[in-house]
Amino acid sequence: MTKRRLLITSGLPYANGAIHLGHMVEAIQTDVFARAMRMMGHEALYMCADDTHGTPIEINATKRGITPEALIKEAWASHTADFKGFDIDFANYYTTHSEENKTLAYDIFAKLQAAGHIREEVVKQLYSESLGRFLPDRYVKGGCPKCGAPDQYGDVCEVCKSRYDAMELVDPHCVLDGSTPVVRESRHLFISLSNLVDELREFAKSDALSDEVRNFVMTWINEGLQDWNISRDKPYFGFEIPGYPDKFFYVWLDAPVGYIATTLSWCKQHGASLDTYWRSKDTEIWHFIGKDIIYFHTLFWPAMLKVAGYEMPHRIHAHGFLTVNGKKMSKSRGTFILASKYLEVLPAAYLRFYFAAKLSTGVEDIDLNIEDFYYRVRSGLIDNLANLHNRSFSFAATKLDGRLASSHYDEACRTLLDETKKRIQNEIIPAYESLDTATAIKVICEIGNAANLFYQEQAPWTHLKEGRQDAARAIVTACADVVRMIAIAIKPVVPDFSAKIFAQLGLHDQNLADLDAHLNDHNSVQNVEKTYIRPERETFDALTMPAESVQENAQETAQTTVLPGDEKTPLNTAPEIVRAPLKDAIDYEDFEKLDIRVGKILACEKVKKSNKLVCCQVEIGHPDGPVQIVAGIAKHYEPEALINRNVLVLTNLKPRQLFGLESRGMILAASDDAGLELPGTLLRAPGATVR
Ligand code: MSP
Ligand code: ZN
Repeated sequence: MTKRRLLITSGLPYANGAIHLGHMVEAIQTDVFARAMRMMGHEALYMCADDTHGTPIEINATKRGITPEALIKEAWASHTADFKGFDIDFANYYTTHSEENKTLAYDIFAKLQAAGHIREEVVKQLYSESLGRFLPDRYVKGGCPKCGAPDQYGDVCEVCKSRYDAMELVDPHCVLDGSTPVVRESRHLFISLSNLVDELREFAKSDALSDEVRNFVMTWINEGLQDWNISRDKPYFGFEIPGYPDKFFYVWLDAPVGYIATTLSWCKQHGASLDTYWRSKDTEIWHFIGKDIIYFHTLFWPAMLKVAGYEMPHRIHAHGFLTVNGKKMSKSRGTFILASKYLEVLPAAYLRFYFAAKLSTGVEDIDLNIEDFYYRVRSGLIDNLANLHNRSFSFAATKLDGRLASSHYDEACRTLLDETKKRIQNEIIPAYESLDTATAIKVICEIGNAANLFYQEQAPWTHLKEGRQDAARAIVTACADVVRMIAIAIKPVVPDFSAKIFAQLGLHDQNLADLDAHLNDHNSVQNVEKTYIRPERETFDALTMPAESVQENAQETAQTTVLPGDEKTPLNTAPEIVRAPLKDAIDYEDFEKLDIRVGKILACEKVKKSNKLVCCQVEIGHPDGPVQIVAGIAKHYEPEALINRNVLVLTNLKPRQLFGLESRGMILAASDDAGLELPGTLLRAPGATVR
């Protein structure tokens, strides 16, 4: 293998807001790729920073009575804490408000000037006399000049979608103080992108872009590139332009330079040379970005790099936007989920696993469907991978003194291990290399399923009972070795899982190069502990619970009469079809294990201190009489309405305690985003079974 050197970045989050799960799509995709590259033995540095400049930062700081510097410091602390919570492993997380960034931006600007690519032009703009500032498009509103819709922003009409100049607005007013702006002139600096169109066209044709992204870029180029205004008047929080007092670089000029500045700051700490990373053909520069900032990264940024003599990006990967339950994230729906809120509710590993399982090479949007999220985590991570670990390691620890041995492997054991290794090398590694983490996860889960099946069929407990300890040990060791190989393969996605596996095997951290370091007679398991605990469905629902509507029952009943996310759609219109992949196929024998019966609810009352649970006495034809079942349906049914109702019951679920009450089964219901529903009339007598 030739060792590659990669410098990897993701879009720099604005210091003006908190990190949300949309940002995490990108950070997780980038981090998984960087970790996968390191797992394969390459050098891969992930560089990121806060994007700290611009009008909103300055205005918000003034509003709060603090300096912009204090505001961005606060944001940096909160952003880095969130990323740490999600196990994002940056080589450096810096800031664009740094000396390095200023020096590098000045240098690039000087080179653009020297090459004759900067020109000046006097521009007319809206200006607030009361505030003494020019007003960016988002700070003015007025009537749409095309369709007349009132209250539209200065750049685009939300109603008719037409784009226009803020000066065309009818009766404009400033959103900050309501005053009427005037038109004023100011001298601005432009980068003449049209000078560089040949270079940009060549770059657009290169392998750096996927065909999908290339299509966008080629369209923009063919439509003709506008020169780019890179200056802003004071007051502004940013870098003052050399030779132009009171003028500042537009935030997007110095923001991408932050990629280089962050590397430079890392180089200083590690005694490395910046040229190794930014002026060397031996380094691959990978930018991960959202689809909204493709223009900046495929046109402005390459133009700057080219003129300043840096290497061009090796690859610019654009991903889609996050939706939640099929819709744009929205504060009022409770689906604008902050990273910090997520971390209060669920482990980071679940979201890393889920996003990795869904992300691939394309630019289409990615949906966080809470139901699908729950099932994928449960069926893939918990019931498959974590279960394989838990059953094999626990068996070794409790029944075989923790000692492992490979000397009694039979053909079946060897085939299992060969097959696992082959699939990791031939399928999982290429998938990671091409950003197709969905396939990587799919194959890992298939390996897990195969090993679980092997364990089940080989039934080490039977061998043990019949005195064949060596055979039992061989089976368990082979499974533990698969778990070890899975830990290597899945390390980029859920590093905490892998770390626990290696520790319980008494091994150091392992990588792809250690795939062949198979477990043998010298290995043992120690301090066996579960990797993940089976999560409750309710915990997942809490992610999208709008804070204000958590308690009030009245409000909750009202909510079940409308489809969430569209307050205007009554339930009697056809509900949206939620398409979610099926869980893995099961055998008829597995189905036969389920004892599903018709039950009649004889009594039912709300469980105290819970707004979800009801406690029912249900006649299911059990020899000992009615059983008690605690069910999470209180939000959807009044207890009285359930009495005498026939329902389907899974009767042989292991009993469990809920709010101190024993529950001996599960009432089956259909559920989707709109709520939950018990199946219609069942006329069979209690005790009838489902076949
Ligand atoms: N500051 C600029 C980027 C400058 S890069 C030199 C910016 N900041 S951002 O905070 O709005 O977004 C940072 C990154 O997160 C961008 O790549 C953006 O596309 C991505 N995302 C922001 N919201 C997102 C979703 N809802 N879904 C997926 N990615 C999203 O843009
Ligand atoms: Zn309009």
